[in-house]
Amino acid sequence: MRKEMYPIRSQLKSKRIRFEKPQNTISWAFMKELRENNKTRKIYEVNPYVEVYLFQENLYGLFTENCDGMGDVWMYLIIGPEKAMLIDTGFGLGDLKGLVDELTGGKEVIVVNTHDHFDHAYGNCRFDKVYCHEYLAPYLANQHEHMWDYLFDAWGENIWLQFDKEDLPAFKPYEITGVPDGYTWDLGDGYEVELIHTGGHAAGHAAYLDKRNRILFTGDNICSDVSGCGAVGKPRANGPHAECTLLTYYRDRVKFLVDRLDEYDYIFPSHFMINLESHLMEDVLETVEKILSDPESCDYKTETYGKERDSADVRYFKYIKGFSVIGYTYDK
Ligand SMILES: [Fe+2]
Repeated sequence: MRKEMYPIRSQLKSKRIRFEKPQNTISWAFMKELRENNKTRKIYEVNPYVEVYLFQENLYGLFTENCDGMGDVWMYLIIGPEKAMLIDTGFGLGDLKGLVDELTGGKEVIVVNTHDHFDHAYGNCRFDKVYCHEYLAPYLANQHEHMWDYLFDAWGENIWLQFDKEDLPAFKPYEITGVPDGYTWDLGDGYEVELIHTGGHAAGHAAYLDKRNRILFTGDNICSDVSGCGAVGKPRANGPHAECTLLTYYRDRVKFLVDRLDEYDYIFPSHFMINLESHLMEDVLETVEKILSDPESCDYKTETYGKERDSADVRYFKYIKGFSVIGYTYDK
């Protein structure tokens, strides 16, 4: 019998129709508690699709339901002394720019992406300019006016999430600025945020290190549902720098983040549980090492069949001590 994820009470304009797959029970309990009882939660009139949470004096978590059937999404807004930084833009549902402007009081906003996937970068076109790791720029340049079409069936009805089609952005090209690993922005008075290239979940995937709040925003490489952070054998993606989606590449970058543990206390992923204690990074490294030394010896596997495939897509899973799982593909 299929596990159902019962709805979490919410005042959002969007309403869940169905999830693509059942989700991690413990993550679900965390999200239910947070979303139903957190005292800072607020929905602004300007954008009824986003729950706004205040996690630090100058850090907002912007929660939005995923327009497709995958996990709901966190975006983050850091307010610096002179400038603000928005990490990711979701699907762009609702007036995200209006909301950000209201929260910042009209400060200049630096928009950055962790990676290019639907649920993190489709709202970019609501802004004039976006920064990302240089490997990500060509992927973002592929965005177009029909990229939201898959959210609707042949009759134009919403498939996974009920929302008004008119509340999606009208696509417009925007400036994409790719920057190298280690690039640092100053939000004023020496408030630094650094981009750290991680690869793993996507070739140009980056984490962002807020040096003043001592927080690392890890995008989709660490997730309390399933961390999809690389493949063994063959890269998971086509296109430029696809080799960065290999688990060997991610292992080296996690090692780099473990070496820098004295610079951050908390990890904020882009889905589900947030405010994770930073030493989780060591357990991630340990699990990645174990997978690489013997990819076949996973904790469990799943098989899915695509429409035109007669053999199954196999996904392997291995537990991170005290946390959730890493999911990976293995091409021998
Ligand atoms: Fe995602």
